[in-house]
Amino acid sequence: EIVDGKGQFLLPGFIDLHTHLREPGREDTETIESGSAAAALGGYTAVFAMANTSPVADTSVITDHVWKRGQEVGLVDVHPVGAVTVGLEGKQLAEMGTMAAGVGAVRMFSDDGHCVYDPLIMRRALEYANSLGVLIAQHAEEPRLTKGAVAHEGPNASRLGLAGWPRAAEESIVARDALLARDAGARVHICHASTAGTVELLKWAKSQGISITAEVTPHHLLLDDSRLETYDAVNRVNPPLRESSDVAALRQALAEGVIDCVATDHAPHAEQDKCCEFASARPGMLGLETALSIIVETMVNPGLLDWRGVARVMSENPARIVGLDDQGRPLAVGEPANLALIDPATEWTVEASELASIARNTPFQAMTLPAKVTATFLRGRLTARDGKIVAG
Ligand code: DOR
Ligand code: ZN
Ligand code: ZN
Repeated sequence: EIVDGKGQFLLPGFIDLHTHLREPGREDTETIESGSAAAALGGYTAVFAMANTSPVADTSVITDHVWKRGQEVGLVDVHPVGAVTVGLEGKQLAEMGTMAAGVGAVRMFSDDGHCVYDPLIMRRALEYANSLGVLIAQHAEEPRLTKGAVAHEGPNASRLGLAGWPRAAEESIVARDALLARDAGARVHICHASTAGTVELLKWAKSQGISITAEVTPHHLLLDDSRLETYDAVNRVNPPLRESSDVAALRQALAEGVIDCVATDHAPHAEQDKCCEFASARPGMLGLETALSIIVETMVNPGLLDWRGVARVMSENPARIVGLDDQGRPLAVGEPANLALIDPATEWTVEASELASIARNTPFQAMTLPAKVTATFLRGRLTARDGKIVAG
C-alpha cells in the first residue's frame, strides 16, 4: 500500500519502556492484543510490558509467553520485563539469566512487581544484571514512606484530606540506587521521574559519570495536583501528580537530556476499580494512544523540543537504553523499517470510548490535543492507518 505522507513527519517507530498490559491476570482490563492495538495506534512499534502481572513475571514461563503472544498478534514487539526478585519477601533474586536466555530475551528487569526493600538485594541485583548485560528499571518508591498515601504530599492533599506521598519516597531511592549503581559499576534506569528533586539527583549522578538513565510520563509533563480538587479517581496515579514547579522542572530536564526519554506507564484499570472514592481507587492512567499528542502539547508547542527531539525521546533514546540497536540508524533503500507517520497540523478530541484499550481511564478525556499519528509501520508492514488497526 502506498501511504501519502505529504505535509507530515516520518519518525522512527516509538518505543515505550513502560507499559502495563494486564495479561496474564486481568484480561478484563487489557490484553496483549488490545494493548498492542493501542500501541500501534499511538505510533509505537515496541513496548516493554511491565512485570506486575498476576502472577508476576518472575520466571521465563511468563516472559516467554508474553513475547510469543505479542508476536502472534503481530502489531508491535511486546518485550517482556522480568521481575528482579521472586516471592513476596523480595529477598531472593529471580533467575534473570534464564529469562534473558529464553525466547522472550528479557533485556529489562524491574521491581515493579515485587518490591525490593533491601539495598543489599538491590546491590546484588545490579551486579547480576550487569554481568548479564541487562538493565534494571527502578520503580523508585520507598514503600515505607508511601503506606496509605494516595496523593502528592502538599497543600492540595492536606486541604482535601488525602494522605500524602512525599517526594522523598522517590528521591531517596533515586539517590540510593544511583550510589549502588556507582559502587556496582552497573547501569540503572529510573522509572517515571516525578519531582524537581529527582531531576537534581539525576544531574548530579550523571555529572559523576554514573550510568543512570530516566524516563518521564506524558501525564507528569502535563498535569499537576490541582486536578485533585474534583476528587475524580482518574487522577490517582503512582507516583502522584506533583506541583506545577515539578512539572516545569521535568519539562526542562527532558529538553536538556537530563531525563532521557518518555515512557507512558500505560496502566489500564476496570471501571469498578476507578469509579470509587479517590482513596480506594487503583492508581494508574492510560497513555499509549495519547502520548505523542501530549508531548507535542507540553514540549514541542512551547518550544522546548523540536521534531528531531521528539524522535530522540520517543524512539532513539529508549532504543539505546535497552540496546535495541537498529532503531534510529540510517536505513538502506528498501530495508523494512519501524516508522510512525505524524500529521503535525491536525487536532483531535480524546474520547475514552473510542480508544482501543479495553479500559477507559484516560485523564485526557474531552481534551482537544495537537498532532495525530496517521500511520504506523512495523518492519515495513502497515499496522495502523488513520486511527484504525490494519489487520495482518
Ligand atoms: O499508577 C501506577 N499504576 N503506577 C505504577 O507504577 C503501576 C501501575 C499499575 O500497575 O496500575
Ligand atoms: Zn511504577
Ligand atoms: Zn508502572
